[in-house]
Amino acid sequence: MQEADFVAFDAEQAKIGQLLFFDPILSGNRNIACATCHHPELGSGDGLSLGIGEGGEGLGRERTPGQGAAKIVKRIPRNAPALWNLGAREIDVLFHDGRLSVSRIYENGLDSPAQEWLPEGLNSILAAQALFPMTAEFEMAGNPKENQIAGAVYDRIDNVWPIVAKRVRVIPEYADMFVAAFDDVDQALDIDITHIANALAAFETQEFTSFDSPFDAYLNGDRAALSDDQKAGLDLFYGKADCSSCHS
Ligand code: HEC
Ligand code: HEC
Repeated sequence: MQEADFVAFDAEQAKIGQLLFFDPILSGNRNIACATCHHPELGSGDGLSLGIGEGGEGLGRERTPGQGAAKIVKRIPRNAPALWNLGAREIDVLFHDGRLSVSRIYENGLDSPAQEWLPEGLNSILAAQALFPMTAEFEMAGNPKENQIAGAVYDRIDNVWPIVAKRVRVIPEYADMFVAAFDDVDQALDIDITHIANALAAFETQEFTSFDSPFDAYLNGDRAALSDDQKAGLDLFYGKADCSSCHS
């Protein structure tokens, strides 16, 4: 792989995405950020067997189900996967069950849980993905009656996004950064959820891209980049053990 194999991103947009990725205002109860589950110190995963969403406290293995009324009702039914190289152009399906994929089924070019209500203007499948944790009750949205976002999800999924966008754009420091980084944003009111999602995708691509591993060097023709054991593992992985049929 090389740089050209990844969706091009704007560095200024990535800078905004970095702030948003660590900002709990994207969650209904303002108590969890993307980074809580996809932390750089945890290899961009959550370090848990089954994740602990909004209401929990702490990070990684120290994360607890929280206390009092905020305490979690349910764990996330799987762990948070690492986010490496998802900005690669060849990525056309996301989530363990493939519920988000590049498709012609709707005019927006993606098959997703939002069906035809996915907003226009997303720059990549990674940007589209960023919309969904915000709508997930146990991940970021919160439980019904706890906040406006959790209530909106039950109405229709796309009712959530304008509420999130408004939370972001009323913060002057964010608004100024969006105006500077996006050609189609002249004032705070122009900021919608697609700008937020595109900024998050830009950050994820910038931060979690790697193509200088020994494996990459080997693929590029440096036969000495892998040890004999590693080469044997590679043969198994793509051969007899058939790991690559799922982990391609
Ligand atoms: C409560 C923990 C949690 C939070 C918060 C969270 N995620 Fe995730 N994330 C997960 C889990 C669990 C999955 C796997 C879900 C699945 O495959 O069904 C996932 C999947 C993903 C994927 C797809 C990975 C793949 O290979 O298919 C991306 C990208 C991602 N998250 C980015 C984000 C972004 C951006 C945010 C913030 C807007 C966020 N996540 C917030 C837990 C979380
Ligand atoms: C039939 C599909 C399939 C095959 C074949 C497969 N895996 Fe997996 N593997 C998965 C799934 C799905 C998960 C995620 C499980 C979860 O998170 O609940 C996973 C998880 C993993 C993980 C943990 C990743 C993490 O970040 O937590 C490793 C490591 C792994 N597999 C290695 C292998 C190896 C090595 C082989 C070949 C011997 C293999 N897998 C074959 C589907 C498969």
